[in-house]
Amino acid sequence: DRTLRDLAGRHLLVGTAVDHAAYTSDATYRARVSSEFSSITAENVMKWEVVEPVRGQLDFTAADQLIAAARKNGQQVRGHTLLWHNQLPAWLTSGVESGDIDATELRGILRKHITDEARHFRGRIYQWDVVNEVIDDDGRPRDTLWLRELGPGYIADAFRWAHQADPKAKLFLNDYNVEGVSAKSDAYLALVKDLLAQRVPVHGFGAQGHYGVQYGLHAASDVATNLGRFEALGLETAITEADVRMLMPTDTVKLQAQAQGYSVLLQGCLLAKRCNSFTVWGFTDKYSWVPGFFDGEGAANLLDENFAAKPGYRELQAVLALA
Ligand code: G3I
Repeated sequence: DRTLRDLAGRHLLVGTAVDHAAYTSDATYRARVSSEFSSITAENVMKWEVVEPVRGQLDFTAADQLIAAARKNGQQVRGHTLLWHNQLPAWLTSGVESGDIDATELRGILRKHITDEARHFRGRIYQWDVVNEVIDDDGRPRDTLWLRELGPGYIADAFRWAHQADPKAKLFLNDYNVEGVSAKSDAYLALVKDLLAQRVPVHGFGAQGHYGVQYGLHAASDVATNLGRFEALGLETAITEADVRMLMPTDTVKLQAQAQGYSVLLQGCLLAKRCNSFTVWGFTDKYSWVPGFFDGEGAANLLDENFAAKPGYRELQAVLALA
């Protein structure tokens, strides 16, 4: 039985998000991260609230552990994420809310954060999710602290600062609900054109790929067409956070639909020309963000809670074997 990384060979990196706590405490989990995947993403430990819990005190310990292990296992690392509106340190959000941190100071804080973090990991990250989830489903700029305080120019600034700090990393925009052509992916396309016209160093577009079997799936060709629009502008593309959740309990029909969802995302990536990395957002139902976020839903991963392969895993094996 060949593993996903083995089947993918050289033409595609197959990755997973890694839960640092599980990685530290669960040997079976750890072993499967190494055997199945050629790329890893830290699920949480590169986020701002983790790396700077106290203002001015940087702590990259957990992320450095994951990266050291990845290196030992011959795995590449995706960086996630330098700028987001979630998982910000409390000192930052409360400072802005109370008015203690004004816009000028905030811009300096963001610059320092991006510079410190990208520099710390310089040379060890092949793709950075520099800017995460900045557009709403209707295609409008997402109303966040960043937009409200700094204005729309914060996106270009973030890419410029990241590029200065780590000139070799490929710098990505990343979001969900942008797998196919939609108002949201149209808005990203317009954003990329605008950034490129200003000579902003943006190199990649990541479609997260959070699916649910109760929602419609794209056709693989729709995913490939959408990614192709970004590639035509010179960008690389990636599927960065694939998972396919379902209403519990599971049954064979839902598990088959789930396999279909994973298949669409992988095939869409393989059909595109420059989609060089396919990452799942966790790989076992034993550790998953889904039940905590969506009431009554779960079982979103490729392996069950005992690490047994589900139909989705077999499907990815089959698709990779043909690629
Ligand atoms: O670490 C604390 C722990 O100390 C505390 O006791 C516990 C109590 O709730 O919380 C722990 O933090 C949790 C953290 O995950 C680590 O497990 C947070 O509450 C929880 O909100 C956080 O959720 C993460 C979520 O992002 C936050 O928005 C998920 O694990 C992570 O999978 C998810 O990932 C995001 C991507 O970054 C961006 N795209 C969407 C994706 C799914 O939401």
